[in-house]
Amino acid sequence: MNVFIAGASGALGRRLVRQFAERGHAVIGLARSSKSESAVREAGGEPRHADLFDAESLAKAANGCDTVIHAASEIPAKQKTTPADWAMNDHIRRKGTRCLTEAAAKIGAKTYLQQSIVWVARPRDSSPFDEDSPAVPEPAIQAAIDAETIAREAESVEGFTISILRCGFFYDSESAHTRMIADALRKRQMPIIGGGNATWAMIHTDDAASAYVAAAENPRSGLWHITDNELVPVRDFLEEFAARLGAPAPRRVPAWLARWRAGEQAVEYFTRSTRTTNARFRRDFGWSPRYPTYREGLSQIVATWNAEKAGLKK
Ligand SMILES: NC(=O)c1ccc[n+]([C@@H]2O[C@H](COP(=O)([O-])OP(=O)(O)OC[C@H]3O[C@@H](n4cnc5c(N)ncnc54)[C@H](OP(=O)(O)O)[C@@H]3O)[C@@H](O)[C@H]2O)c1
Repeated sequence: MNVFIAGASGALGRRLVRQFAERGHAVIGLARSSKSESAVREAGGEPRHADLFDAESLAKAANGCDTVIHAASEIPAKQKTTPADWAMNDHIRRKGTRCLTEAAAKIGAKTYLQQSIVWVARPRDSSPFDEDSPAVPEPAIQAAIDAETIAREAESVEGFTISILRCGFFYDSESAHTRMIADALRKRQMPIIGGGNATWAMIHTDDAASAYVAAAENPRSGLWHITDNELVPVRDFLEEFAARLGAPAPRRVPAWLARWRAGEQAVEYFTRSTRTTNARFRRDFGWSPRYPTYREGLSQIVATWNAEKAGLKK
């Protein structure tokens, strides 16, 4: 395959480049800076410049590719966010998807993979949901819903195969979000809000990437949820992560106090369950995650950080 990846220098993107390249596919990665270029090259891809908001420029960069992947984002890496912090990410989801699907059509690509998030269909009452559940419109995720719609419309007009992969909560040794949680745990600034019983659907980013590779190698039209094999209560994840880091146990704070300090959206994130599984993706693609639960994932992350620290000390 010849694969074009927007977001190739990101936490997910670098893994995509590496895994596709390791499996013998040629990869072109969108890069906006010399730093991004190096990241794509180091992962085994060929960097190319293009404007994500200009279909012509994308088509020029992606010319010759049969598979196009949208994995770009600009998710704010801080605890308290405002709608303004999300504006560019929303634009990347809406306009970026429109331009990238247009570019895929222009170059005659056969397959388009759209990144999305499982929260798109998470019921407000925290009940379980799957790929057949309706989207639950909310301001924070409306752009992801719109991006899915734009991708589906492009599929029906252009005729290429679109797989929408909705991922759970990424975590890995490199991503800004995981480092932010670890730093906050070390400083005892990442409390357990309320009882901490809400569940998260996690996915190690290595496994998110391997799911994209599986979907690209066996193109099928549809929508799948990409998570690991076990939902984890927020309390268990944060306590286990803190213990692995040698950090003190997280404080407990009531929801009203956290709401005042971090805002409604952050509190929601920690107190509303995401109860979905990877059952359909496993069944349809024969895929399974290398890190089946957060326990194996955290072991890998902390071991990587410890090795980095030991290397620095030498
Ligand atoms: N984090 C999660 O928990 C989570 C969960 C599910 C799904 N996702 C989705 O998975 C995708 C990848 O996330 P990530 O964690 O890998 O993000 P990341 O590490 O922040 O990487 C973002 C990537 O997007 C590129 N990008 C940002 N703004 C761009 C623009 N205006 N034009 C072109 N490229 C741009 C960046 O390029 P530069 O290097 O040039 O800045 C980088 O390659 C996102 O679409 C995200 O919504 C994330």
